[in-house]
Amino acid sequence: MDLAGKKIVLGLTGGIACYKAAELTRALIKAGASVQVVMTHAATHFITPVTMQALSNQPVYTNQWDARVGNNMPHIDLTRDADAIVIAPCSADFIFKLAHGACDDLLSTLCVARPMMLPLLLAPAMNVEMWQNAATQRNIAQLKADGINLLGPDAGEQACGETGMGRMLEPEQLLEEVVAAFQPKLLGGKRVLITAGPTFEPIDPIRGITNLSSGKMGYAIARAAREAGADVTLVSGPTALSTPYGVHRINVHTAQQMHDVVMSHVGGQNIFIAVAAVADWRVANASEQKIKKNAGSDAPQLVFEQNPDILASVAALPNTPYCVGFAAESENLVKHGKAKREKKGIPLLVGNIGPQTFGQDQNELLLFDDKGHISFPRADKQQLARQLVAEIARRIEA
Ligand code: CTP
Repeated sequence: MDLAGKKIVLGLTGGIACYKAAELTRALIKAGASVQVVMTHAATHFITPVTMQALSNQPVYTNQWDARVGNNMPHIDLTRDADAIVIAPCSADFIFKLAHGACDDLLSTLCVARPMMLPLLLAPAMNVEMWQNAATQRNIAQLKADGINLLGPDAGEQACGETGMGRMLEPEQLLEEVVAAFQPKLLGGKRVLITAGPTFEPIDPIRGITNLSSGKMGYAIARAAREAGADVTLVSGPTALSTPYGVHRINVHTAQQMHDVVMSHVGGQNIFIAVAAVADWRVANASEQKIKKNAGSDAPQLVFEQNPDILASVAALPNTPYCVGFAAESENLVKHGKAKREKKGIPLLVGNIGPQTFGQDQNELLLFDDKGHISFPRADKQQLARQLVAEIARRIEA
């Protein structure tokens, strides 16, 4: 679980997005965190402390003078064993208070009294005009200068009926941001290009040739690289997965499209990770119209031509980024992995035994380099992705 053992103080301020805080509480707890809810008086107009207590399974604090804390100092006690404070939703008024160090209720006092190293994450939520207001933007600039972490906001349709910046991020996006806040920034300032998923080679407008890749490993690596502070571009074949928050995703179908997108985006990248299961062959005589059965006639004859090797093309560039390849083998992983790394001319190749790991949440990996191979034992794909990102960061540093 991504937040196992973490204690989060979740602050709610006045805004209609308070309803999303209920879902966020559940998501944080499901990820292993314990959640201590603190609400401003305004927040209690939008969602009740009873609801938040039921979901967080802990007493909710709303009052600076709450006598339930032994020494009667909830503004001190509630944060001393916390791992992060998350304010979601964070109103324009609360942003103003934080920017000026106000201490006129429990939540604002608790923020000012927090230990200096305790991360404070804010998820702004307000009407577009309130967000764009010069005073709000001045306060936001001040908070950024103070090193406070802003999660969003997003643009889109708002509860008031207007459209624009100021929507709070969705609970699952906030969860990704909270998880990311705890990851070391091993790839800070780096640009990472990743391919993921299967490719799809058309036979006719209805049918095509694809493979069993789900995209899970590539998406997990994209998420892990973003968590580590990288600027991530994900070139993805068709998958059912949602884009990791903060990752720039470009959708493609065929190997040729994937090749063209990669080659036009590879300039300026520091790392290229080819996780996609790319079709080696495409159908040269694909039909423009649906191929009909025509009872009694011969089966259609497909003619194949070779697709470009994306990884090999990138590895052959004069200013090539640090290249990492993947190999899914059905047998002899050690022999094939070693040979494939040398053939592709890349410093690192990650092998796994397919197809039984395709679509699964767990995997085990062998990493091949010029000295031999090391293994990452069976684990959750997201955990393996973080291990791999740390390994790549270490090698780049060296
Ligand atoms: N790859 C690629 N472009 C291709 C084929 C493969 O970029 N046209 C990349 C994959 O993303 C992976 C690595 O090359 O990182 C190895 O892919 P794999 O399919 O295992 O190997 P192939 O090179 O296709 O060799 P073979 O089919 O003989 O196993």
